[in-house]
Amino acid sequence: NEGALWGGRFAGGPSDALAALSKSTHFDWRLAPYDIAGSRAHARVLHTAGLLTDAELDGMIDALDRLEADVRSGAYVPSATDEDVHGSLERGLIERAGADLGGKLRAGRSRNDQVATLGRMFLRDHARVVARGVLATVDALIAQAEAHPYAPMPGRTHLQHAQPVLLSHHLLAHAWAFARDLQRLVDWDARAAVSPYGSGALAGSTLGLDPNAVAGKLGFSSAVWNSIDGTAARDVYAEFAWVAAMIGVDLSRISEEVIFWATKEAGFVRLDDAYSTGSSIMPQKKNPDVAELARGKSGRLIGDLTGLLATLKGMPLAYNRDLQEDKEPVFDAADTLELLLPAVSGMLATLTFHTDRMAQLAPQGFALATDIAEWLVRQGVPFRVAHELSGEAVRLAEGRGVELWDLTDEEYASISEHLTPGVREVLSTEGSLNARRGQGGTAPDAVAEQLSALQAALEPL
Ligand code: ARG
Repeated sequence: NEGALWGGRFAGGPSDALAALSKSTHFDWRLAPYDIAGSRAHARVLHTAGLLTDAELDGMIDALDRLEADVRSGAYVPSATDEDVHGSLERGLIERAGADLGGKLRAGRSRNDQVATLGRMFLRDHARVVARGVLATVDALIAQAEAHPYAPMPGRTHLQHAQPVLLSHHLLAHAWAFARDLQRLVDWDARAAVSPYGSGALAGSTLGLDPNAVAGKLGFSSAVWNSIDGTAARDVYAEFAWVAAMIGVDLSRISEEVIFWATKEAGFVRLDDAYSTGSSIMPQKKNPDVAELARGKSGRLIGDLTGLLATLKGMPLAYNRDLQEDKEPVFDAADTLELLLPAVSGMLATLTFHTDRMAQLAPQGFALATDIAEWLVRQGVPFRVAHELSGEAVRLAEGRGVELWDLTDEEYASISEHLTPGVREVLSTEGSLNARRGQGGTAPDAVAEQLSALQAALEPL
């Protein structure tokens, strides 16, 4: 086996079955640019340590540059017998630099510290793409909130009408969740910015190489303090997968609402043609496929996380080959979100809200009952009693098949002397909304302040 990195102590080559099982080039090839960047940094620390002459360093960098160009153009691809991206690129280097020079690069490093480092580099780059997608989603929600500052809608708990809220308030509730996801990516990046390069196979290197020099060249803020941790830990990957799954769940929750809002029964939104699909048989259909795919793919993201955690559970330190299974879940998590976020943010940005219908439904289903109770409290009635009295009004209205504002003054008086005609001041959506003006409340002024606070929170991200 010509290209193998470990032939010396073996009399025979691997079985076909082992070679097929072992191979990872079909998924780890996308680490090639990071592998080459790592090799360039490693060559420089070998040179600093006196293990490569000036001319050798120049030759090595030149060969790596040519290899990178060939990888990029597709002129160089892994061969059928290459085990992984690292072995394949060493073969490519030796083809360009010759065996004497090319064979010097592996000194003081192992695929174990390499692969742990390259994965972090890959994820840090993709975390930035994902963060931009999350930000676009927040921006779409903020733009819709700004476009509908006063539009009321039914606020729900248990999916039942609860209290009227502003549409902008509801949309910003989702925006806050995505803002926290963004903060999570930023926090995560600080932990991901530590380089395992220099850990070697598990114990570090005897060659006097400076791990912090490599770390700096690769955009990390520092090198790991423990070479065993550097090669064996994958919590940084798992945390990425968790944040990705959380983003997926947040996308799924708003998507579920869009699916409901788009039903004939709700009639709250119209989906833009560019973000909906038709049916092959039913000509009238306009389906919320973007939202459904988001809901579906959140399951996939959760699977990526749980699969990775299951791989890590019970694995002894340091490197074990099980760890080759760490890459596909996190690659998939990044790919999935990079596909999903532009579609969901586009869908949200182009939703048309039927605000008249939402406003009409906002107070229905006795959604102002709490307002009656709290009005009574302001008249000095204990809340326990106020709750009872308001509940009786609901029962009366329900029995008559009308809403709370349809009850007559006499009917209110028949329930309690406290229920004077003055109660009508809170029997409107507007009155209900305006009354909730404390921080975090749904009154228009409170929502305007909330929006400024959200924008301030996003500022440093
Ligand atoms: N391809 C392996 C991985 O993805 C790295 C190789 C380490 N192999 C080894 N025998 N130590 O984890």
